[in-house]
Amino acid sequence: MKPDLSVRIGKLDFKNPVMVASGTFGYAEEFGDFIDLKKLGAIVTKTITIKPRLGNLPPRTCETPAGMLNSIGLENPGIDKFIKEKMPFLKKLGIPVIVSIASVDDPGEFTILVKQLDTIKEVSAIELNISCPNLHKERLISQDAKDTFALVSSARKLTEKCLITKLSPNVTSVSEIALAAEEAGSDAVALINTLGGMSIDVDKRTPKIGSWSGGLSGPAIRPVAVKMVWEAYNKIKIPIIGSGGIIDIQSALEFFIAGATAISVGTINFINPRASLEIISGLKEYMADNNIHNLSNLIGRLKACDS
Ligand SMILES: Cc1cc2nc3c(=O)[nH]c(=O)nc-3n(C[C@H](O)[C@H](O)[C@H](O)COP(=O)(O)O)c2cc1C
Repeated sequence: MKPDLSVRIGKLDFKNPVMVASGTFGYAEEFGDFIDLKKLGAIVTKTITIKPRLGNLPPRTCETPAGMLNSIGLENPGIDKFIKEKMPFLKKLGIPVIVSIASVDDPGEFTILVKQLDTIKEVSAIELNISCPNLHKERLISQDAKDTFALVSSARKLTEKCLITKLSPNVTSVSEIALAAEEAGSDAVALINTLGGMSIDVDKRTPKIGSWSGGLSGPAIRPVAVKMVWEAYNKIKIPIIGSGGIIDIQSALEFFIAGATAISVGTINFINPRASLEIISGLKEYMADNNIHNLSNLIGRLKACDS
């Protein structure tokens, strides 16, 4: 039996459910020497803004127990340069390209970005990053259900393309926000973005990263992410793209069983660029070993503990 790894999100078909997470894989070309990019389920680009951004003050990353803190601050070339210099490579890949976008000063910037990306055939989906913790805003769009609804609704009116809304774990109820995204017409939600965190150099008595605090990622946040996927799965009907500390097949399986239709692989790319391909092979093997023909027979199949 050949396991069927394909999944559907909105109107988009993916040959397998393993993507690479925004900001951890550049614009894919950077990883072309390490892995066969065509084997990935999809690529999610580094988040793009209207204008180019240099990002936050260094140091921008530091190691933490079982993870890392980052405060990159959305360094990117801006939409025009992205389309001119990065899209030609992505267009040739032949796998779904998901372009992540964010606003910096005004949510209206999303409108401009969506309109521009809507005209490019090879952009398969748009991911609305409303959850970046490193712009040091008082409140993120994804920290408020009404703001999330308004933003996603306005994007929905502008494009037929698959829309994914990326959510923050820095909230009281992620499922409430996921529901707002669903009701506004999002085709899927991606969760989780990084968890707010801080590390201190006790000798210098300074923060370890230049902008004081940042976003925590890696295996340290996995249990938080798995719980949030499970909570959202029990509340919404649209697909969930799970992320947070996925490093291998075992950790990936946790997300599918909790309710994720697809996963995105992040921090581990810096350590093992082959991790996503290893997970695809591991998934085929697990499905064959457990007589699971179709991934839908695994998604959300969490059972209660044996008593
Ligand atoms: C260095 C770094 C940069 C990131 N940049 C972005 C970004 O530009 N846009 C975004 O939506 N998420 C960004 N993220 C968050 C990841 O896409 C992912 O949601 C998060 O790291 C959790 O997954 P992980 O634990 O597998 O890394 C970034 C994460 C890291 C570590």
